Amino acid sequence: MPACSKPNIYLVGFMGTGKSTIGRSLAQQLEYQFLDSDDWIENKTGLSIPQIFEEQGEPVFRSLEKEFIESGHADHSCIVSCGGGLIFQQGMKEALQSRGLVISLFASAKTIYERTRSDTNRPLLNVEYPLVEIQRLLEERLSGYRDAGMGILTDGRTVPDIVFHIIRIYERSFIKET
Ligand code: S3P
Repeated sequence: MPACSKPNIYLVGFMGTGKSTIGRSLAQQLEYQFLDSDDWIENKTGLSIPQIFEEQGEPVFRSLEKEFIESGHADHSCIVSCGGGLIFQQGMKEALQSRGLVISLFASAKTIYERTRSDTNRPLLNVEYPLVEIQRLLEERLSGYRDAGMGILTDGRTVPDIVFHIIRIYERSFIKET
């Protein structure tokens, strides 16, 4: 945890684990700024995420995610919802950990499928059998999310309950450091 008085909180985890919903509510409660890496990239490029994947390719998208973390946001008083693949790039997990508290949100493949099935904005899930792809990719990424930060399971829990839990972790981590 960095030395500043209001370190950022980074929400990581698979698509559909609730990072944006929980992040917005956290930001409101703590009176911090809410940021979303995908929104930042869309604003910067003027393109949607599927357009970037299709027209410029995934590596360009990944380098924009890196740019956002390295130089696109303030180092305090922010709640940052990180795209589901962001922490898998070289050095990114460590970059988040050095800038603030990292929380990993988890949900079952079935819950993720239900939450994402009507949304066409996620190129990695625009496939014939999205549930199968969710199960495959989740399995591949699970240990990375576990290593990144404090894990919270979101299945069957309300947003206020999860937000309360995260604020408690944040305050405890912060009090321990000062
Ligand atoms: C991705 C997750 C998406 C978005 C892009 C790739 C991933 O963000 O960054 O479609 O690799 O898991 P959300 O996790 O906010 O849906």
